[in-house]
Amino acid sequence: MSDQVFIFDTTLRDGEQAPGASMTLAEKLKIGKQLAKLNVDIIEAGFPISSPQDAESVRAIASEIQGPVICALARATEMDVKAAGESLSPSDNTRIHTFIATSDIHLDAKFSHPRFGKNLTERRETVIRMAVDAIKQARTYTDNVEFSAEDAGRTELNYLCEMVHAAIEAGATTINLPDTTGYCIPHEYADIFTRVINGVPNSDKAIFSTHCHDDLGLAVANSLAGVLAGARQIECTINGIGERAGNASLEEIVMAIHVRSQKFNLHTGIESKALMESSKMVQVASGFPVPPNKAIVGKNAFSHEAGIHQHGVLKRRDTYEIMRAEDVGQDAEQIRLGRHSGRHGFFSRLEKMRIQIPEPDRDDLYTRFLALADQKKEIFEEDLYNLVNYIDSKDAKPEYVLERMDISVTSGQEPLAEVSISHRRLNKVHTERATGDGPVDALYRAINHAVGTAHELVSYSIRSETEGADAVGIVRVLTASGDRHFYGEAQHTDVLKASAEAYLMSLNRLAAHSNEADNMHFVTDGIRKSFERNPA
Ligand code: KIV
Ligand code: ZN
Repeated sequence: MSDQVFIFDTTLRDGEQAPGASMTLAEKLKIGKQLAKLNVDIIEAGFPISSPQDAESVRAIASEIQGPVICALARATEMDVKAAGESLSPSDNTRIHTFIATSDIHLDAKFSHPRFGKNLTERRETVIRMAVDAIKQARTYTDNVEFSAEDAGRTELNYLCEMVHAAIEAGATTINLPDTTGYCIPHEYADIFTRVINGVPNSDKAIFSTHCHDDLGLAVANSLAGVLAGARQIECTINGIGERAGNASLEEIVMAIHVRSQKFNLHTGIESKALMESSKMVQVASGFPVPPNKAIVGKNAFSHEAGIHQHGVLKRRDTYEIMRAEDVGQDAEQIRLGRHSGRHGFFSRLEKMRIQIPEPDRDDLYTRFLALADQKKEIFEEDLYNLVNYIDSKDAKPEYVLERMDISVTSGQEPLAEVSISHRRLNKVHTERATGDGPVDALYRAINHAVGTAHELVSYSIRSETEGADAVGIVRVLTASGDRHFYGEAQHTDVLKASAEAYLMSLNRLAAHSNEADNMHFVTDGIRKSFERNPA
């Protein structure tokens, strides 16, 4: 038996069947191209008979996407198989996937009309005949035909074996045994494969496939159990989207087979580094965001916040990580700062930001960090700059104070700003004016002239804190001088005033840092000179 597990992606068919997940043709094409980049083996592109749009998107994918086999779904009826065959015609690398229900519950509900038979035995025979006819018809379009015994998970086993035998005899090259309702538990699902593969004499002529739904949260576990019992194709979707609770999630299956390769002794051809990008694309197109704790592609899947974990991971990644974030396309930097972070994680993040904290300030800074983390769920880089700048400027009086600002915006003219700023050390007020692309640009240019320090504006953001015309705007500004960053923040109903104050706050922090650096030079200069006068 081969050691390759084929990945059959059904995001565009079963995934798109999730209520509310329907996608446009352009989105389907984009995802189809991404699936080819991910190197899936088969793309189930749609169910052509279900709507003219589905038929059109299968046709478009068949004509534009190279690499994976392009597959279309069809019930076991003549018109369905014809629609699937015709939609796939632009490609010469195709599969028709035909299905019919085999469980007693489904036979009773779907085939109760007397034309299908008077009793269960007759209905079962009719259904086998329909499957055989559909498979033979599908083979007139392509040599690659898959048959699914819908609700195989709840189908009587002898009948399932009879059906599979007839399907392979008729020309099916892949046999799918779906757990359509997500009812099975892993050892039970594995047992179905073992018994069908061993009990059907021609089973070696087909590849067996899993197709699991997640109603009990067991879709991935069941798919893996099926593979351990001999299946060599897994049907799954990106992010596990699909009918009801969804399908088995592709990314979880692929990484389980990869990370536990010694247990499985199997491999897939998936380019795992493209998993995250694929997940994001499907989130946007389907409108189904994944929760932060989702395995493999969730935002927190590789993040460590607890102090013990951060310390461990910084020392040796495999203490708390069984795979690398980079291998699935997630960011490598995953130390998240929050209430549970320890000193080690906190100071090592500052070091990564090239911020050195003198030993005497460390306790104070860490205490402030914990107090802030108690109020905020997550601490971002801006918050860290703010904390560090506080240490730099805690004893300093502000160097610059905004005494006055006037801004005029006249239509057809560039906005004009005039500011008066007092300089504490010079004991002077500087008044300057400037024009700019917009009022904030004009204001910041005027402030630059009035302050006169060399710096760079790294980022500016404005967010409204409340609603309505008199909403409070919060302005956040980051400036840089050399490799040091200085953060400023202010809020006001007048967003121009908030912009000016936030900017000045960051420039005051920059000035406090420069004064400290000047004082330091003064002291070290004095020591050097005294050594020159009195050499040892
Ligand atoms: O869940 C299911 O049984 C299906 C079949 C069409 C394969 O999606
Ligand atoms: Zn399904």
